Amino acid sequence: MDAKLSPPPPPPPQQQQRKWAVPLLASLLLFASLLFFSSGQTLLFLFFSRIPSSSSAIEEPLFVEPKLRLPPLPAIPALSVPRLAYLISGSAGDGRSLRRTLRVLYHPTNRYVLHLDLEAPPAERLELAAAIRDDPVYARFGNVRVVARANLVTYRGPTMVANTLHAAAILLRDAGDWDWFINLSASDYPLVTQDDLLHVLSSLPRYLNFIEHTSDIGWKEYQRAKPVIIDPGLYKLQKSDVFWITEKRSVPTAFKLFTGSAWMMLSHQFIEFCLWGWDNLPRTVLMYYANFLSSPEGYFHTVICNAPEFRNTTVNHDLHFISWDNPPKQHPHFLTLDDFSRMVDSNAPFARKFRRDDAVLDKIDRELLGCDADGFVPGGWYGALKMNTSDRHYTVRNANELTPGPGAERLKRLITSLLSADGFDEKHCI
Ligand SMILES: *[C@@H]1O[C@H](CO)[C@@H](O)[C@H](O)[C@H]1NC(C)=O
Ligand SMILES: *[C@@H]1O[C@H](CO)[C@@H](O)[C@H](O)[C@H]1NC(C)=O
Ligand SMILES: *[C@@H]1O[C@H](CO)[C@@H](O)[C@H](O)[C@H]1NC(C)=O
Repeated sequence: MDAKLSPPPPPPPQQQQRKWAVPLLASLLLFASLLFFSSGQTLLFLFFSRIPSSSSAIEEPLFVEPKLRLPPLPAIPALSVPRLAYLISGSAGDGRSLRRTLRVLYHPTNRYVLHLDLEAPPAERLELAAAIRDDPVYARFGNVRVVARANLVTYRGPTMVANTLHAAAILLRDAGDWDWFINLSASDYPLVTQDDLLHVLSSLPRYLNFIEHTSDIGWKEYQRAKPVIIDPGLYKLQKSDVFWITEKRSVPTAFKLFTGSAWMMLSHQFIEFCLWGWDNLPRTVLMYYANFLSSPEGYFHTVICNAPEFRNTTVNHDLHFISWDNPPKQHPHFLTLDDFSRMVDSNAPFARKFRRDDAVLDKIDRELLGCDADGFVPGGWYGALKMNTSDRHYTVRNANELTPGPGAERLKRLITSLLSADGFDEKHCI
């Protein structure tokens, strides 16, 4: 099977030259449609669809995309504290680790969406929702949301990307007052505090997209790009693995494939570009990836690198410490106490993947985040809230004071090395 992705062929030359043929044909069609009432609808439809396709080649283009160009990218970073929008997702049995991860990631000015996929029993989702609702701090700022109509998510299938887009759409729709979107799972954990992260991000241009990517798809051409898969999660209620169809497709020529890490931090602008779809690229690529194995490792990478207005906003890093076996297997290995110093030395703000309640998480809580008994990470906002529990007026507006710690220094080292790397400006999407 060959993917039908190339654009439709241009209208035949005689059609372009004989402009008068269009109105004539149109009126003939209209006439015919009036005569033959029963088939009128089809003909009228033909009549309407004829005009734009033939006239657009000659006169003013009818395309709307150029009018929807993005606002120019700000040259100087805004000085206020940026806001982050997080998706934290999990499956059956992940409810507790999800709550733990949320706790250490919490900051009143951020936004959070929690998703327990359809495999998790409804009771677990209700328990999670109740825990969020009944927490006085979350309730006060109202910035944590649990996805009630959960999705079935197939590991390696396109339903994973659909779920990520769903969460991003909720976050856009809910308030949309955030600068970056970060996609995490219940087996991820931060290595810096939110104050550290927000402090470092404050001095960065808000248009940057942290997405690890390459066009060197190597073995993935044969193992990923050519095989065609079907994800039953798109149309079934029960979870089952993806399956392969026997025919292969060729590598796309309408766009270039990119691949990379499934973990990323994407700008608000780019998320809008993907979700609103005024340009057809994100939609076309999404439909293409519906039959692609491990689509989370390629969808956003391919969209961003094929969009000229975004390719220069990429920073080639996923902000994660992930420890792969050598040679890499399907899953990274679980991080333990033995990995602690390598994790810290990586200067990355996040790490994965962790077993539920592994001892190394307690060590991270103690030594890197300084969590208190409630599980929160002390920071500017938390100190203020604690000091004045009687203050009912403590709101998000007061929450901008940050108290960055050593984590900020580590993260700054990483970001500086990325942005000042040799040839940073020329090395996007290669
Ligand atoms: C988003 O998060 C999930 C974790 O639940 C991950 O498996 C997935 O690959 C991530 N990336 C994308 C692009 O959806
Ligand atoms: C992106 O960067 C390249 C290399 O510096 C440059 O040639 C190109 O014009 C830039 N594109 C945009 C849209 O700014
Ligand atoms: C505590 O909150 C009250 C009420 O808003 C305010 O008047 C008072 O100044 C606050 N105290 C401190 C120490 O911030």
